[in-house]
Amino acid sequence: MILTITLNPAVDKTYTTGALMLGQVNRMRTVNNIAGGKGINVAKILRQYGYDVMTAGFLGGYTGEFIEACMREIHAHCRFTKVAGETRSSINVIAEDGYVTEILEPGPSVSAQELEQFVADYKNAVSECELVVMSGSVAKGIPADIYGQLVAIGKKAGLRCILDTSGEALLHGIKEAPFMIKPNQKELEYLVGHRLKDIGEIGEAAKKLRKTGIEHVLVSLGKKGLLSVTENEILWAKTPSVKTVNTVGCGDSVVASYAMSLLKGEDNYTSLKRAAAISAANTATLESGDIALELAEELLDKIQIEKR
Ligand SMILES: Nc1ncnc2c1ncn2[C@@H]1O[C@H](COP(=O)(O)OP(=O)(O)OP(=O)(O)O)[C@@H](O)[C@H]1O
Ligand SMILES: [Mg+2]
Repeated sequence: MILTITLNPAVDKTYTTGALMLGQVNRMRTVNNIAGGKGINVAKILRQYGYDVMTAGFLGGYTGEFIEACMREIHAHCRFTKVAGETRSSINVIAEDGYVTEILEPGPSVSAQELEQFVADYKNAVSECELVVMSGSVAKGIPADIYGQLVAIGKKAGLRCILDTSGEALLHGIKEAPFMIKPNQKELEYLVGHRLKDIGEIGEAAKKLRKTGIEHVLVSLGKKGLLSVTENEILWAKTPSVKTVNTVGCGDSVVASYAMSLLKGEDNYTSLKRAAAISAANTATLESGDIALELAEELLDKIQIEKR
């Protein structure tokens, strides 16, 4: 079983309308609600591929109940910690005039007691799983070193940990040397403290990071593909061009794919190819974390791997 952690989940609400006008009554034509947040997306993808998933993090209020119901519907094992506040909604208003407006709630504050409960729930969950994926931002009230703590607990229980986050949470999280991190270029630049101008520099920066004890630094490069930096080699998976509908959730697809490959014990060459294919196939659907499964299979043969 794979455990996915989402510390700040969200209900992703998409509205369509003619035009959005400030200071006016705006009537929406359609609304669509889905369970979101990076670890939730990873869980959704793993379930699409039929993997056993346990999912944890903080949920509160009606929005929290909605997310839990969505996770139960896809038969993910729910181990969420309840908070007094309301889980956030992230609102996207798509207007006919071409403007897309995002309204993002801050999400609930987590109290010291709720955090303590979460750590206890996490320890229980870890004891039933083989691998843990921690993704996304940290809710208010949670210390920046939370991922470091979770990695340390996971490692102690013998689990490999994959960490996919950004900023301070990532910086603190890597202090405990997770098995794998998946920064995009901007996140990697933040970690090393300077801009990286080409693949050569990105590879060097990732190699330097590996020296802190991280086994695998996997850098995602948007449509330029994926750079895998391990002890033995640097491999660059180049993505074929895909008719892109929505790139949200691409990072989550990469992480989900690697989690599956690690459980299966696949070699890195195969794992990388699969991750590039699945993440490219994610861009072909409107819903984030919804993989066009047949397309992913077709793309597999089109991914080129260059040894650097
Ligand atoms: N336009 C695209 N066409 C094909 N593949 C893509 C495209 N955009 C992203 N991908 C694939 O998805 C992977 C992850 O994307 P990206 O680097 O944008 O992640 P990210 O910045 O972490 O995104 P997010 O955190 O929003 O999911 C890429 O490495 C690539 O394999
Ligand atoms: Mg990302």
